[in-house]
Parts: sequence; C-alpha cells; structure tokens
Amino acid sequence: MANRLPVDQVTGPDGRTRWQRSPGGLVTALEPFMRQRSGAWLGWSGAPGPAPAQFDHDGLHLVPIPLSVEEIDRYYEGFANASLWPLYHDVVQPPEFHRSWWDSYVQVNERFAAAAAAAAAGGATVWVHDYQLQLVPQMLRQARPDLRIGFFLHIPFPPMELFMQLPWRRQIMTGLLGADLVGFQRPMGAQNFLQIARRLLGLRATGSVLQHEGRSVHASAFPISIDTRAFDELASSAEVVQRAAQIRRELGEPDKVILGVDRLDYTKGIGVRLRAFRELLEDGSISAPQTVLVQVATPSRERIEHYVTMREDIERTVGNINGDYGGIGGPAVHYLHQFMPREELAALYRAADVMAVTPYRDGMNLVAKEYVAARGDLGGTLVLSEFAGAAAELRQAFLVNPHDIVGVKTALREALELPPGAAARRMRAMRRTVRRYDLEYWAESFFTALGERAA
Ligand code: ADP
Ligand code: F6P
Repeated sequence: MANRLPVDQVTGPDGRTRWQRSPGGLVTALEPFMRQRSGAWLGWSGAPGPAPAQFDHDGLHLVPIPLSVEEIDRYYEGFANASLWPLYHDVVQPPEFHRSWWDSYVQVNERFAAAAAAAAAGGATVWVHDYQLQLVPQMLRQARPDLRIGFFLHIPFPPMELFMQLPWRRQIMTGLLGADLVGFQRPMGAQNFLQIARRLLGLRATGSVLQHEGRSVHASAFPISIDTRAFDELASSAEVVQRAAQIRRELGEPDKVILGVDRLDYTKGIGVRLRAFRELLEDGSISAPQTVLVQVATPSRERIEHYVTMREDIERTVGNINGDYGGIGGPAVHYLHQFMPREELAALYRAADVMAVTPYRDGMNLVAKEYVAARGDLGGTLVLSEFAGAAAELRQAFLVNPHDIVGVKTALREALELPPGAAARRMRAMRRTVRRYDLEYWAESFFTALGERAA
C-alpha cells in the first residue's frame, strides 16, 4: 500500500475520466514489481471524493482508498507535503505544523490500515510505503497481529536534531515500530531511526534490531532501484534510438545537449542548474544554440505554496535566459512542463550528452539510474548531486555539491568536454552497478530480511 495507486484518475476537457500513470519514483519501482505478483495495491486514486470500486488495470489489482477535498488539503498537501516532506529533506524549506493537519493524517492512516486489515488474507504480508503512511504499521498490527508487516521509506529519514522538531515525533516513531522490518534508502536513515528509538523512546537495540513491546523490529538500508533490463531494452529499441536522433534534429542539431528531468519540486535543485547554465553562457564557456539545456519538469503538488512560488521562479529564470541568450526559433533552454510517456523519456536520455541531476536532498533519484540504464551506447555523462541517495552507487558520475555553484559549473564544463573514451569507461562502470543492484535485487533483499525477521 502507498498513498497513490500506480494510476491517477484524470478528467479530460471533454469531462470524461481516464487512468494515467501516477508521478514519482515510487510508482516507477513498484509497478513492475507488483506486475510479477498476485497481490493487491491499495492507494488513493488521485481524485477527491468517493473511491471507485476495486478493479483490475493492466495486470494489477487495485483497491482505491477515498480522500475528501478536506483530507487532500490537510493530510496530503498539509501534513505529508508541507510538514513531513520539507522536514525530512533537511528543511530545504521551513516545515509548517498544524494540529488540524495532524488530525487528518491520523484519520487517513486509520482508513488505510482498516482497508489493509480487510483486504489481507490470514498471515499475509503487507508492505506499507512512504512517509504518508507512517502510522499504518502500528494501526495494522493492532487490528491484525497475524500479518507480516514491512515498511519502506522512499525519502530520507532525518537526523535526530531535525526529527525532534516534529510535535508528534513519538507517535510517528511508534507508528513505524509496528512493522517487523523498517527499510530506508541509505544506512544513515536506518542509523538515525535507531538512534531516535533509543534516545526518545528508551528502546534497547542490538545492532540494527530494536526491542519494542515484546517484539523485534529490524531497521536497515535497502537502496531502491529500477527494472534496469527492461529500461535498457526500451532505450535500445530501434524506435527510441530513431526518436533520439529526431529530438536532436528538432533541437536544431546542437553540438551538446544538457538534460534535466524532475518532478517540479524545490528539493530537486532545478534553479541551481539553470543558474549554472546561465553563468556558463555569461562567461563564454559555452554558447547557445550550440549548447542547449532541455528541462523536463513534471507537474507536482501544484496547490502547495512553496511549489507555486518555485514554479514562478523557475519559469521566470527560463524566460530571462532565453531572452538574453536565445535566438529566433532557437531558445537556449527548452522547458517542458508536462507528463511524458516512458518511450519519450528514454529517447531524451539517449539524446542527451550530459544529464544534470542536482537535488539538494533526494532519497534515491531514479532518474539518474534510468539515464545510466538507457545508455547502452555508452554515450553521455552524468552530473549528480552528492545529496542524492544514488550518489552512493554511481561513484563514476561527476559528483557535485548543489550549494556550490562554482563546483556545479566546473562539473558541467568537465562533463561537456569529457572525451568519448573516458565517458564510456565511466558509463560502463555505472551500468555494471545498476544492472547488478536492480529492482529485483532490492525487492529480494527486502523480502528476505522481512521473512527472516518475521519468521
Ligand atoms: P521522485 O520520486 O522524487 O519524483 P525519482 O527521480 O526517484 O524522483 O523518480 C521520478 C520518476 O518519474 C522517474 O521514473 C522518471 O522517469 C519519472 N518522470 C520524471 N519526469 C517525468 C515526466 N515529465 N513524465 C513522466 N514521468 C516522469
Ligand atoms: O517518494 C517520493 C514520492 O513522494 C512518492 O511517495 C510519490 O508517489 C511521488 O513522490 C510523487 O509525489 P505525489 O504523490 O505527491 O505526486
């Protein structure tokens, strides 16, 4: 179960509703995983009001959970995305805490737990995902002590000094401790969790195992990944390779293409990238339209204040750069604020000389892994923030500190100028990593640990 189903119910201009792939890395990872299994996926349909009845979609069994307009406002946009999201991402923006948001978070978590309790067979395994549902493990355990419960957090788990800001820190910790296994992206997340459990709740820990209410709770890191083989195949298909060449023609056959692909989120450091690109144009290190930046920004959380102002800032900056450095029919920045089919994204990855991934903080960042998986031709270089979980695995990327604009500029320049042989060596090494540590490896290691812990 996750906050969202893998598809969103969207209403078109003609008033007709249809299902469209939901945004974000969680769906990218879990959709192929669930496709190979017989379980049900519980989550919100993305639309307000009563939920549709459970149904099968494209080989998946989906159980929609309703959210009212008020719950979308308080639980989803409020507590999940204006309290927890900024707090867990190093307070990149100040989190807000409101009791009415918290009350709604509790209420919605109760609804999810009740739905899982009703759907799960005796002794079943329930895998709860992400920060929106941190109270579910405990609620579910109370209702159904027979279940095996795993929890995985897709975003960073913050250090104690930040977590302690949360007025409901005890409740969140107790909620998570209802699981048999709590999984994190990075070892540091697991260590933070263990430390808080010891210091805040006084729990006893032996290594990565906590004792809580007569049970063992295991906390460990399981870096998430993608279905590397499937994405590699898609990106190497004749259609995608042809489309990549066509994209370069449509861009006016530039010498170099820099690419950014992100949800439009303030954690992603899109502004940093634009600033670095602008300064490189300013100081003459590069010129447009010989070098262009393509920025794909998926619409996200569009009613939350920080997202509204960030979008305005980014779009103003794109306009300024194009005003100063673009030509007629030849912008320096190609900005696309839209959802894209996987094939088109794969073609963009294939067409890009440099992939720029510069988040201030990111649990993993699957875009970076997709880029590597897409480059079966061993072309392209990756500029990657040290603060993305993926940096621990993709060591051959040009690693940057997104707070250091000079460093980002230098890395972009070096990545643009890297000779093909050296670029291929780096890419080959990174491809080995994403092939070995793929989605299956992630799911297998989580389930093995869950089986061992809950046996
Ligand atoms: P997050 O989960 O924070 O959004 P990730 O980088 O882990 O970040 O995952 C983003 C996922 O969304 C990737 O699988 C990427 O391919 C996909 N994605 C990004 N932009 C778009 C877009 N414009 N249209 C469709 N999918 C997108
Ligand atoms: O872990 C990242 C994440 O928050 C997922 O939980 C979520 O599915 C995705 O990003 C997209 O965000 P949202 O569901 O708020 O559109």
